[in-house]
This record gives sequence, C-alpha cells and structure tokens, in this order.
Amino acid sequence: MVRLAIIGGTGVYDFDMHVMEKITFEEIETPYGRVKFKIVEHGGRSVAFIPRHGAQHSIVPNKINYRANIWAIKKMGAESIISTSAVGSTRLFIRPGDFLIPHQFLDFTKSRESTFFDSPERGVVHVDLTNPYCSRMNLMLVQVAEDLGFKCHDRGTYVCTEGPRFETTAEIEMFGNLGGDVVGMTNVPEVVLAREAEICYSTICLVTNFGAGTSLTNLTHKEVVDTMKANMHNVRNFILAAMERIEFLPECPCRNSLAEYGGFKL
Ligand code: HPA
Repeated sequence: MVRLAIIGGTGVYDFDMHVMEKITFEEIETPYGRVKFKIVEHGGRSVAFIPRHGAQHSIVPNKINYRANIWAIKKMGAESIISTSAVGSTRLFIRPGDFLIPHQFLDFTKSRESTFFDSPERGVVHVDLTNPYCSRMNLMLVQVAEDLGFKCHDRGTYVCTEGPRFETTAEIEMFGNLGGDVVGMTNVPEVVLAREAEICYSTICLVTNFGAGTSLTNLTHKEVVDTMKANMHNVRNFILAAMERIEFLPECPCRNSLAEYGGFKL
C-alpha cells in the first residue's frame, strides 16, 4: 500500500536510487489526464515518486498538471506528500545550499487551476489555509535535517511566482518587504490542492541562489541546476530519512480539512 508520495522538483527527476529494493512503473487515469509515476520500495515501505516537471524537465511551472498529479496521489490512497523545491532567497542569511521548510506561502501566480471544486457537480468549497503546510510533517523534517547535520531553516514564507521567468530586482525587494523568505514557482497550487484532497503536504526547499539583483551576477537556470546537483546527495539522504521516519496520523487536521463539507470525494 502506498501511503507516501514524493513530488520531485527541479533536479530531482529520478528516484532509481541504489538503495531501493524494487521499482515499478505505473499510470493512473484522472479527470484531468493520465499521470505516470514510479513506485519505489525502501525499508518495507512503498512510495510513489512523481517528477513534477516530467522526467526530462520538459514541463514549465505554469503548465504543470497540478490537479492530475494530486488527484492521482489521492486515488492511489496516499496520505502524505513530501515535495522538493528549488528556491531563490530574498534574505542574506538564507544562503545557497541551505534547506528551508516553509510554513506559509504568498501566492503571486496568475493563471493556474487551483481547485478541484469549480463545477456545479462538485459544488463550492472554501478550504481553510491558515496553516497551509502540515505542521506535524514540517516538525519531523526539521528534526531529520538536524539529525543529518544539515543547515535547515525551520520555517519561512514561500513566495510562489507564475514563472517561467525569474524575477526582477524590484520584485525580489518587494517580496522580501512583504515577508517572503524564498521564491519558487511550484508550491501553489500544489499545496492548496493537497489540502483540498485531505492529504498532508510539506516541502523540502533547497536554496539554489540568491534572488535576482541580490548577487553580483545575473541569475541563470544553470546556477539553479548546478547548486541542486552539488547538493543532490543531501537531498537524497533527506528524503530517505524522511521516508523512514514519517508517521501517518488519520487525525491530523490536514486529513480532515473538508469535514464541514462531508470530506473529499474522488
Ligand atoms: N526564483 C524563482 N524560482 C526559483 C528561483 C528564483 O530565484 N530559484 C529556483 N527557483
């Protein structure tokens, strides 16, 4: 039984880690399209792995089929999602190579389908996002990072931009002034849809760069990918340790987010 799904972000396209005992390829049909993923087995646990940008990083952030991915994860019966996200930093003390586990987000996306409830048949749902990320899983991830000796900021506000372009200097300054600590392009609507689907969701952010205009050179995608590659070993160990440590709690508030609507139905 698959209880945990990993959504791999930039640089995390594959999960054929030598430690995996078994890997199978599967597909799930959803109302939003078909989703291909891997099931990996490790330490007696089966985990689904979905590379968010496709296996070859061919899907831009604003074109990712977020609803199909989360629906498929719900359909396979998973209760928790851990994703990875490459992010830029708006703060000098949050440096490339650091990890950060966000507890809040600011949504600057523009044109994304961000709800499962947009048809008369499914009705209208206003999901509560006071605490958008799973606080319980966040705590576990921070503890894992500490045990592994990683530099990890235990909270922070993730600014989600529409992309695929990087930001202007003025935008990075504004995001910092608004309380944003890191900037990425994918957590929204992923985290929102997970909450609608009553799945615990947390993300491991790896800081790949300082935000545009805060370093001496202009930002490139290569810089992002190179920092990710240089830290891949740590990202992999982080995920493996989290896979072993995770506990599934049906009573977690994330798992009952639509209680007032009678729960989420596929
Ligand atoms: N901005 C937006 N998304 C990103 C960045 C950034 O600086 N780095 C990695 N993903």
